[in-house]
Amino acid sequence: MKQSLSDAMLGKVSGYIAERMGLCFPRAKWNTMEQALGTAAGELGLADAKECAEWFMSDPVSKAHVELLAGYLTIGETYFLREARSFEILEQEIIPEIIKKRQGGERRLRIWSAGCATGEEPYSIAIMLHRMRGVLRGWDISILATDINPHALRKARAGIYSDWSFRTSPAWFKQNFFRQAGDKRYEVLPHIKEMVTFSNINLVEDSFPSLVTDTNAIDVIFCRNVLMYFDPQLAARVVERFKRCLLDEGWLIVSPCEVSNLFLAWFDSVSFPDATLYRKRTGETVNWRKSEPEKGRNGEKTEWENGRNGETELVKNLSPLPRFSASPVQEVPPVPETTPVPEADLYQKALTLYERGAYREAAEMIAMQLVQNQGDINALALLCRIYANEGKLAEALEVSDRALAADKLSAGLHYLRAVILQEQGMDDEAATSLKKSLYLDQDLVLAHFTLGNLEQRKGMIKESQRHFSNALTLLDRYRPDDVIPESDGMFAERLKEIIRATTAGMSGVYVRKLPTETREIP
Ligand SMILES: C[S@@+](CC[C@H](N)C(=O)[O-])C[C@H]1O[C@@H](n2cnc3c(N)ncnc32)[C@H](O)[C@@H]1O
Repeated sequence: MKQSLSDAMLGKVSGYIAERMGLCFPRAKWNTMEQALGTAAGELGLADAKECAEWFMSDPVSKAHVELLAGYLTIGETYFLREARSFEILEQEIIPEIIKKRQGGERRLRIWSAGCATGEEPYSIAIMLHRMRGVLRGWDISILATDINPHALRKARAGIYSDWSFRTSPAWFKQNFFRQAGDKRYEVLPHIKEMVTFSNINLVEDSFPSLVTDTNAIDVIFCRNVLMYFDPQLAARVVERFKRCLLDEGWLIVSPCEVSNLFLAWFDSVSFPDATLYRKRTGETVNWRKSEPEKGRNGEKTEWENGRNGETELVKNLSPLPRFSASPVQEVPPVPETTPVPEADLYQKALTLYERGAYREAAEMIAMQLVQNQGDINALALLCRIYANEGKLAEALEVSDRALAADKLSAGLHYLRAVILQEQGMDDEAATSLKKSLYLDQDLVLAHFTLGNLEQRKGMIKESQRHFSNALTLLDRYRPDDVIPESDGMFAERLKEIIRATTAGMSGVYVRKLPTETREIP
């Protein structure tokens, strides 16, 4: 195609695209970029690529602008069980290790498919977990699947696919987990569909990690064939944020062609036969057993390809876990003997560590402070957040109760308690805490938002709309880049977008889709 936009204009648009979506369009790809602008122009009723570029760069750039264009600029190529080795390692190594580690503890498993395109990746994960349902009985499972492209997400939610999506998957995969939906179309079965929550997250934005977008305390992030299209600096920022979303020793899974030193600042690389994965580096020695070379790697068929549909050998060999064991509540970490450090310093240091995702170190720092002042509300609130981000919900709840015992009138503490209760699937108790927090401070935006979500889930549509509308009205008092109280750094504009998308029934970015009990594998 002949280039009609000037080089200056193309350079400017590519800069905008990199900044807003992370995508990298160097000079060699300007033709492709211009073509995409031209196609988008058609859909928008604009004259041509130039007008489209001007529209895109107009101020302020709305989320809708970015998403619409993302649909044309991103590559949505995907299929079921793509790069099947990742799924095998998840099934045979990672999940069995998590199961063993959490015996007697909190049995939650949280997986995030970031850049899920039309859903084949998260549904492959869901099917894999379903195969492991024997050993995952009683576990609280969540699979979050996000993308920037709203068209792709719509298709993902519908869950209807053509043969092309099954091009490398074994026959049993389609036969057992899909039903006919018209001529050569197949719909993922409802019990698999309901295991996945789709939502819209642009990876260059600041909305993760966050309790609001449910991107905290994650065990495994799949982000395959996404960052390879990113500007390296922005990719590094995303990877650093991923680190903060993950629990200690959590995993980042990228595509084999994306293996890179980029991850090594925050992750250890772990080599498996035919795959390299990344594991969050923590202060502690990582005691990970590198897997032995296994049979099936020398041209023999793997288990996925062989098509056994029962539970895997490894899973069968694990000892069954008791149902609903109570999580032991850990004490606040022991405090080393030290000369007292000024409290403000300790708190600030802990806060900085927390913001960097160094949760364990932050907790140690706060513990020192609590020795000096047991009733320090700010320190207790921070410790509560630290535990929530680490997925230690029982501990988080205990600390929030301690904090509330010291200050019953803190709206923020009641809100924090509500978020933890909600994470534990205790929606009614969470609603009570949210109402208390709003009684104490009716301007607490996030309390309105969270209550709106809870009510929407319960089908209380009128009530939920009232709370969403209150939240939007309150948000008008903020500047777009003001940080919302209790949000861990979320900007007002972003929360507005999330609420609008939620109320429009688009993104469904609520904190939880279903209460814990029903989030077991059906
Ligand atoms: C090639 S697909 C990968 C799908 C799947 N992960 C896989 O490996 O099969 C890349 C996906 O990344 C998404 N993407 C690109 N930029 C993004 C961004 N800034 N935020 C979120 N998703 C993005 C695209 O919309 C597209 O759906």
